Amino acid sequence: MNILVTGGAGYIGSHTCKLLAERGHKPVVLDNLSTGHRSFVKWGPLVEGDIRQADVVERVIREYSIDAVIHFAASSIVGESVRDPLKYFDNNVVASTEFLKALLKTDVRKIVFSSTCAVYGTPERVPIGEGESRKPINPYGQSKLAVENVLEALSQSHQVGAVALRYFNASGASGEAEIGEDHNPETHLIPLAIRASLEQNYELRVFGDDYDTQDGTCVRDYVHVTDLAEAHLLALDALSTSLGAFHAYNVGTGSGFSVAQVIDEVERVTGKPVKRSMGPRRPGDPATLVADPQKIQRELGWQPKYSSLNNIIETAVRWQKSKAHKL
Ligand SMILES: NC(=O)c1ccc[n+]([C@@H]2O[C@H](COP(=O)([O-])OP(=O)(O)OC[C@H]3O[C@@H](n4cnc5c(N)ncnc54)[C@H](O)[C@@H]3O)[C@@H](O)[C@H]2O)c1
Repeated sequence: MNILVTGGAGYIGSHTCKLLAERGHKPVVLDNLSTGHRSFVKWGPLVEGDIRQADVVERVIREYSIDAVIHFAASSIVGESVRDPLKYFDNNVVASTEFLKALLKTDVRKIVFSSTCAVYGTPERVPIGEGESRKPINPYGQSKLAVENVLEALSQSHQVGAVALRYFNASGASGEAEIGEDHNPETHLIPLAIRASLEQNYELRVFGDDYDTQDGTCVRDYVHVTDLAEAHLLALDALSTSLGAFHAYNVGTGSGFSVAQVIDEVERVTGKPVKRSMGPRRPGDPATLVADPQKIQRELGWQPKYSSLNNIIETAVRWQKSKAHKL
């Protein structure tokens, strides 16, 4: 298939393009490079542009005979969304609706959408199933839920087949370390902990050690980016064969690791201490966020293969040690 990948120059998008190409598909990236990297686009053409440019979207779909879309392009820093909500409603909701308007002028009706466990807010039950109520507690999660709602409505009104994948914590890097995680600013625990282990003058700030968890630090569900990429391929296959309408799936392993456990594993892999200081809790950080992944396992046959904590951290360390030459 020829797949239009919005945001394909970013972290998860580039790993998905790699897997698409390995499976014989052609990824065509549409990215404005606002947070992505030109050098991450290696497996197909890069169309430099914004998803809200209707003329560009329609032209790319026709020129490359696109069969389906994976829509990663978004702004995705929770704290920034609290400080600057308009940026998030604009780039995630308005830009996505402009993109979808252009899409509906073509014949493409299959879309896989990057959603997030942030749509659940502070869950009442853990592990979190798809039936958990969706009450996001920050503009980032609200903007992603809004796009899910638009897609669900379009599945009724315009026969769009849509799959929303609600990722838990994307992590790790390709085994070959030619691409990896590089957000600016970086807000994710694993790259920051590795930095605090490898760089002399950098210290990790841990937000809270008085949570109701085994060691007091927050627990999260880390899923390797290649396993996440696989979920997109399975969703595309299902949209092409069996699925219609709108479906949402959690993508997480079902196992959680605390901040302290992640730090221990980083120290084991690098052989060096993670310099850190303890800070207060951050508002809006639930103690534990762990997926119940049974629905995606049962309906799409997804099974994580690369998501042991050790493999996540080994691949992330390999990438972080070598990334200076690759960006
Ligand atoms: N990283 C995570 O742990 C995580 C967790 C849950 C959901 N997500 C979602 O996954 C997706 C990818 O996340 P990521 O970590 O790879 O982020 P990223 O910032 O590395 O990638 C996003 C890409 O989208 C591009 N982009 C942004 N706005 C655009 C626009 N208007 N037009 C064209 N291109 C645009 C950026 O240049 C970038 O290449 C996002 O939708 C994010 O919300 C990420």
